[in-house]
Amino acid sequence: MTDTLTITQPDDWHLHLRDGAYMAAVVNNSARCFGRALVMPNLADPIRTVADAAKYRERIMRALPPKSTFEPLMTLYLTAETPASEVDVALKSGFVLAVKLFPAGATTLSDSGLQSWREAIPVLESMQKSGMVLSIHGEVTDPEVDIFDREKVFIDRVLTKLVDAFPGLRIVLEHLSTKEAVSFVEAAGENVAGTITAHHLLLNRNDLLVGGIKPHFYCLPIVKTEQDRQALLKAATSGNSKFFLGTDSAPHPRSEKEAAIGKAGIYSAGHAISLYADLFDSAGELDKLEGFASFYGADFYRLPRNTTKVTLEKSNSEVIPAVLDYHDQELIPLKGGETVNWKG
Ligand code: NCD
Ligand code: ZN
Repeated sequence: MTDTLTITQPDDWHLHLRDGAYMAAVVNNSARCFGRALVMPNLADPIRTVADAAKYRERIMRALPPKSTFEPLMTLYLTAETPASEVDVALKSGFVLAVKLFPAGATTLSDSGLQSWREAIPVLESMQKSGMVLSIHGEVTDPEVDIFDREKVFIDRVLTKLVDAFPGLRIVLEHLSTKEAVSFVEAAGENVAGTITAHHLLLNRNDLLVGGIKPHFYCLPIVKTEQDRQALLKAATSGNSKFFLGTDSAPHPRSEKEAAIGKAGIYSAGHAISLYADLFDSAGELDKLEGFASFYGADFYRLPRNTTKVTLEKSNSEVIPAVLDYHDQELIPLKGGETVNWKG
């Protein structure tokens, strides 16, 4: 007899889809499992306005199979030029759920980001007033700060000040990667939450570097120590509603990952729910998966929980493809070629 687990359909609260034929090549891998996804705005030409987001959303919907019920939810890229009035337009749209703060230069396609949140004070004031969520890539870019310390230094130098200046601002600290980030979110008010990726739960920096560098395990924030990974696993499986699922699945062509200067980003969307289910199962906390994957994100974003159910099967025989077609390129999924126990 196979074990099964029926849960409310999960959502992915942090997803990179890219655009054009590359988006079309991956979007259905998310849509097969997730009910909704919050799509990041860091395209080559960033999604700066609600009008940009509406057009991008249309392109995503057109790439879905006709009967798909997958709902792309959108984010705006916060720049020094973002007008505060765009926050109201975003709220009225109903499909823009967050404004994303990228520190300039912190990660892939972040050049249009902010030097400091102080460049966006009127926008942040308007967001605080209206309840619009600020989604944050929490890393400093100071070249003197070690890459493994960039998140915790961001929390100390930047985030604590931002939270003090805007105590009512609703914040999601994205892709938590350190025990310090877990503690920060735990200690903060109810207005602060965090997403956790499958790869930060699976990998530590030894996995990335020992025995040869693994470019497909390279992402930002970079994976950290085993102690950090354990803290993330504990937070994700704790049942604390401040922590919820965001894959940060970020496809890059194989040729741009396996290069002298390899791009940051891990592609995990297609088997994400299997990876999370395996992790929760190994931790003996499978009963906490539904809250993390299907409830807490929707609650934080003040959306109804999904009503559809999905059934995962413990098959022990589902193999993640080693390579995927990616339009005119190849894409290597996280744990490609390996078996997952839970099939989504
Ligand atoms: C993301 C990407 O490729 O867009 N890369 C990554 O390493 N996570 C950007 C991001 O979320 O930092
Ligand atoms: Zn991301």
